[in-house]
Amino acid sequence: EEKIIVKDLAEKLDKNPNEIIGKLVQLGIMAAINQEIDFETAELIAEEYGIEVSLKESEEEKVEDPEELLDFEIEEDDPKDLEFRSPVISVMGHVDHGKTTLLDAIRKTKHVDTEAGGITQHIGASEIAINDQKIVFLDTPGHEAFTSMRARGAKATDIAILVVAADDGVMPQTIEAINHARAAEIPMIVAINKIDKPGANADRVKQELTEHNVVIEDWGGDVIAVEVSAIEGSGIDQLLETILLVAEMEELKANPNRKALGIVVEANLDKGRGAVATVLVKNGTLNIGDNVVVGLASGKVRAMINDSGKRLKKAGPATAVEITGLSEVPKAGDKLIVVDDEKMARNIAAKRQSKVKLDKVKSDKRVSLEDLYDRM
Ligand code: GTP
Ligand code: MG
Repeated sequence: EEKIIVKDLAEKLDKNPNEIIGKLVQLGIMAAINQEIDFETAELIAEEYGIEVSLKESEEEKVEDPEELLDFEIEEDDPKDLEFRSPVISVMGHVDHGKTTLLDAIRKTKHVDTEAGGITQHIGASEIAINDQKIVFLDTPGHEAFTSMRARGAKATDIAILVVAADDGVMPQTIEAINHARAAEIPMIVAINKIDKPGANADRVKQELTEHNVVIEDWGGDVIAVEVSAIEGSGIDQLLETILLVAEMEELKANPNRKALGIVVEANLDKGRGAVATVLVKNGTLNIGDNVVVGLASGKVRAMINDSGKRLKKAGPATAVEITGLSEVPKAGDKLIVVDDEKMARNIAAKRQSKVKLDKVKSDKRVSLEDLYDRM
C-alpha cells in the first residue's frame, strides 16, 4: 500500500498544507501535517485541483489509472463470439392489475408442461421453459428500487409485459410503466388481464392505450395485445407464444465466454450469509470464486443459488442467481462486473466509495472550508 506524508503532498501540489488538511477533513480523514495518507486519498485530493498523479513504481499500478477505474470501460464483444440467449421479461403495470397472479399462472403452466424445476420464487426472478426455450421473468412490484434501475435507462430486461386490468383500464402506473419501457427502449406486449370479470372491456383498454401512443396490432399499430385471465388461466399459452415470437425478432445474443456483466435485481443483508444479492447475468458467465465489483461493494462470489434453490458453479447469460460473498449490500440497479483479481476489485470499490464521499461533500454547501477551519 502506497503512502504519502501530507506535507509532501502539499509540496508536490504546490499548496498550503493547511488547505490539504482541510480537504482531507472534507473526506472524513483527520490527518496532521506529518501524518501519512494513502495514495488513493492523495489522488482524490490532487483530482480536486485538476492534477493527475501517478505512481512511478510498478507497471501493474499504472494500469490502475483512476479515471479508468471510476468509469470502468467494458470491452465490446466481437460479433463472432455472440450466441443466442434467453429473453428476460419484466412484468409491469398498475397496482393490483394482476402482475403477480399472472406470473403464478405462467409458472403453473410450466409446472404442468415440463419436468424441470425452476418455478419457485425465492429470488424474485423465475425461469420457465417452453419447448426447451428458457424465459426469465422479473416481477417488478416486489422490487421498489427497480424504478431507479429503469430510470437510469439500464436495459435490465428485453421485453416488458404491460399488465392492464380489463375492468379498470389504463391507470397512472400503467402510463408510468409505458414510459419505463420506452426509456429502456424495449418492446412491449400488452396483457389485458381479468378478462373473466363482468366489467371487463378489452376494447376500452385498447382505446385508452392508443391515447398514450401504444397502438395495438388490430388497431393498425405494432403492439401485440393478448387477452388473459390470470385467475382462470385463459390466454396464458398465447401470451407465452407471443413472448417467444417477440424475443425471436429481437435476436438476443450474448457471449457466454467472457467475464460476467450483470445487474442487481434485489439485495439484502442476511444474518447468517451476510450481503446477499440477486443478480441477473446479462452477458458472460459468472463463476464461483470470481472477483466482482458491484456498485460500491466488492468481493469474491462465494455461493450461487438459482431460482429453484439449486447451487450453481456457473451462471451464463440470462440467468438470475443469488450470490453471497460481497463486502456490503449493493443497490438494486447496480452493475456487477468481474475483474481480474481481488486487489483490483477492492481498489475500484474503494475509489468509488471515496468518490461518492467526495461528491457528497462537494454538494454539501452548508460546510465551507472556512467553517471547517473555524471548527478546528
Ligand atoms: P401489486 O404487486 O400490488 O402491484 O399487484 P399485482 O399487479 O401483482 O396484482 P395481484 O396479482 O396481486 O392481483 C391483485 C388482485 O387481482 C388479486 O386479488 C387477484 O386475485 C386479482 N386478479 C388477478 N388476476 C385476475 C384475473 O385474471 N381475474 C380476476 N377476476 N381477478 C384477478
Ligand atoms: Mg404483485
